[in-house]
Parts: sequence; structure tokens; C-alpha cells
Amino acid sequence: MSSNVKFIKTHEINLDNVNVRRAHKGDEEGVYKIACSVTEGVRDSYQGFLIDDYHKYPEYYIELFKDRIEYLRYFYVAELGGRIIGFSLAYKKEMWIKYNPTWIEDIHWHPSFDKSLLDDFILIDKTAIDAEYTGEGIGSKIYKRIIEDMRENDIHYIFSETVVNPLPNFASLAFRQKQNYIMAGFRYEEHKGEIYSDMVYYKKI
Ligand SMILES: CC(C)(COP(=O)(O)OP(=O)(O)OC[C@H]1O[C@@H](n2cnc3c(N)ncnc32)[C@H](O)[C@@H]1OP(=O)(O)O)[C@@H](O)C(=O)NCCC(=O)NCCS
Repeated sequence: MSSNVKFIKTHEINLDNVNVRRAHKGDEEGVYKIACSVTEGVRDSYQGFLIDDYHKYPEYYIELFKDRIEYLRYFYVAELGGRIIGFSLAYKKEMWIKYNPTWIEDIHWHPSFDKSLLDDFILIDKTAIDAEYTGEGIGSKIYKRIIEDMRENDIHYIFSETVVNPLPNFASLAFRQKQNYIMAGFRYEEHKGEIYSDMVYYKKI
């Protein structure tokens, strides 16, 4: 698929200057700005997007990120010159199910999917890179760090979702394809009265 996808690069950066670290208190506004940057205006399939309307409810979302930074082990930011330019918000199974109690039942699992893989996992909920810096390897650098930490904590399965309808997120699909995810199932979710279809996939690490 990636060969059909328009991939816009605006900067050339040295990845060594990008610092990936766990998010900490005080990062919530920087994270919020990145989330806004990929939802404002018209959503673009090729650049990717997040579905929440971050810019409409700043206080709510800044507070939400603050809460997640405090309670989640797998929340990372990428910094360049001291500025947050990307983030990835991931949940350990217990936390994901705490916030999304019906997630496992809601998925139409592929018949070949082995549900025992759900015993312990990390779910990558949201990843977003400042549009000026996409295509530079920053998302991959964050992802590598998540995997290192998972291995250290003896967790071997990673799950993720991508919206394919009403507007497909080609950037996310290509990003996951590059990481060799395997299709696990399908989920429908409602957002502002509209039904979204999400592909659910996983990977053994
Ligand atoms: C999807 C996203 C996180 C990828 O991060 P990134 O830092 O740009 O990704 P990388 O530079 O590490 O790219 C790794 C691979 O993913 C694929 N890829 C990433 N973004 C792509 C895009 N927009 N179009 C096509 N392929 C893309 C490419 O195969 C790329 O490998 P290559 O450079 O060897 O071709 C980023 O584009 C983004 O934040 N988009 C907006 C928000 C979003 O859609 N998030 C995903 C939903 S949770």
C-alpha cells in the first residue's frame, strides 16, 4: 500500500537530536498542541489524523493528558531542542480495559485470531507527530522505545487500531504496515453520532 501513498516530507532532521523519553508532569500542554495539530482543519488521509476534536475543548483534553501522564507507564514524548514534537500514548492491558471495559467484546475477531494473546498486551492508542516533522523516523523512534520497555517488562504483544471508514487513515495504515502488524479484527465505534470502523491489529515483539 505504501507505494500508492503520497508521503510529504517538509524537513530533513538529524534523528540523533530527537530525544524520546517518558512523558512527565508539565508535558500535557505540549502534547495537547501536537494533538491539535493533527485534527485542525480538514482531516487528511495521507498525512494522518486523530478523530477527537482537541481544539474545541482545550481544558478537558489538557486535563485528560495530565491524568494519563500521571497514571500510565507507557506514555512517551519526542523532543527536539526542548520542544515536544510528537507523542505516543499507550496502555497496559489492565489500564486499557479500565477505561474501555467492553473493548475485547466489541471487536469482531478474525476466526484465526488466538484470543490467548490477549492475556497481556500493550495497546498503542494514539501516536501523533507534528505535521512539519512526519516522515523523518520520529514515530518509528518512539515505537522502538516502547518495544524496548515492553521487553524489559516481559510483555510480548502489542495491539493497535486504525480508522478505515468514513475516512481511511492511510498514514497510520502505512506506518503499521511498515512495522509488520497482523490483522486481528474489526471494531465499530461511535463518534459524534457517526459510526467509525477501525481495523484492529497486533504484533508479537
Ligand atoms: C502516522 C504517524 C504517527 C507516522 O509517524 P512518522 O514519524 O511520520 O513515521 P516514520 O517517519 O517513522 O515512518 C515510518 C514508516 O511509516 C510509513 N509512513 C508513515 N507516515 C506515512 C505517510 N504519511 N504516508 C505514507 N507512509 C507513511 C512509511 O512506510 C515510513 O517508512 P519510510 O520512511 O521508510 O517510507 C504520523 O504521520 C502522524 O502523526 N500522523 C498524524 C496522526 C496519525 O494519523 N496518527 C496515527 C493514528 S493513531
